[in-house]
Amino acid sequence: MLASKRILLIVGGGIAAFKSLDLIRRLRERGASVTPVLTRAGAEFVTPLSVSALAGQKVYQDLFDLTDEAEMGHIELSRSADLVVVAPATADLMAKMAQGHADDLASTLLLATDTPVLVAPAMNVRMWEHRATRRNRATLDADGIMFVGPNEGDMACGEYGPGRMSEPLEIVAAIEAALADGPLKGRRVLVTSGPTHEPIDPVRYIANRSSGAQGTAIARALSALGAEVVFVTGPADVPPPAGVEVVPVQTAQQMLEAVEAALPVDAAVFAAAVADWRVAKESASKMKKTSGGLPQIEFAENPDILARVAGAKKNRPSLVVGFAAETDDVVANATAKRKRKGCDWIVANDVSAGTGIMGGTENDITLITDDGAEDWPRLAKDQVAARLAERIAGALV
Ligand code: C5P
Repeated sequence: MLASKRILLIVGGGIAAFKSLDLIRRLRERGASVTPVLTRAGAEFVTPLSVSALAGQKVYQDLFDLTDEAEMGHIELSRSADLVVVAPATADLMAKMAQGHADDLASTLLLATDTPVLVAPAMNVRMWEHRATRRNRATLDADGIMFVGPNEGDMACGEYGPGRMSEPLEIVAAIEAALADGPLKGRRVLVTSGPTHEPIDPVRYIANRSSGAQGTAIARALSALGAEVVFVTGPADVPPPAGVEVVPVQTAQQMLEAVEAALPVDAAVFAAAVADWRVAKESASKMKKTSGGLPQIEFAENPDILARVAGAKKNRPSLVVGFAAETDDVVANATAKRKRKGCDWIVANDVSAGTGIMGGTENDITLITDDGAEDWPRLAKDQVAARLAERIAGALV
């Protein structure tokens, strides 16, 4: 998929720069050409020789290198790629990008480019969570800059949290998604997935058996057709797909907030198994067994995220797709649900015990649209996803 794609890779100054050496290898293995740019700080972590040897190309470092200007000016360099990738992107590089600084080669290229830009941040957790970085991230999001990561985990500085640069193969997947040239290119699609966890007390929660497999497959299939995918996921068993914007949530309320923050989108697919009820008053401390009888738990109704988005006056996506997991009268119930929720399509399936669908690898669905009910054969969840993504692409033209 990356054959003959041209990547301009800016390597910033962070310990994660060592991973960028592997990233160059992985990209070249897939047929891409990599033109490397190393910042002054980047050169403190990896040597220009390793970078250029792996890239098989000269490494660009200095804005005022006259030979470079004679060979290829910085404006031309910034526009000679299909994609500009910044990995690692330090807090400082992100700040420069957000402010439009151009005081070295990397920032000048980023300001001069008319090519899409993908950023893989890497920094200490406190720097990532600092308000200034969050502001810069929001500015860059609004400017259409794409992000991959950062991941959560142990950091080279000894702390733990979000800030680790994504792994090379995750960045490769994000690059493939950014360059995917399918019918959904330029479209933004939201997918909800997984179960929600509704807390009872600090250690207990209400959940359901959704694995997140079908939602994950749909997000991956939409991304493969070129869509920019926002993936809002509860605590699922399967890992989220690479190359999409992942928004992890726990509760239905958080899922609603994340969904509303992701709007506007062209299409939204609600594959999450959202808990219908939450515990009205979560206990602040662990509930104890007492001799006085069983605990009384009062429930409150969760917001219906699908119905809210489908019925929204402002920012309603042009296509809203819901799911109906039923155990009886699947088509009749799903058809009624489509009306009740106000969505355009319903993907209905029978999740009775014995079908092996909930938590399994296959799905047997009926697609309910304005034109009626369409029975699909039993297919692998990936195939259902690919077919649904094609249908969505067809409906959005
Ligand atoms: O009403 P029911 O839970 O069967 O509806 C299923 C559909 O509604 C799914 O698409 C699910 O993602 C969505 N839903 C939601 N918010 C809820 C409940 C369900 O978005 N609170």
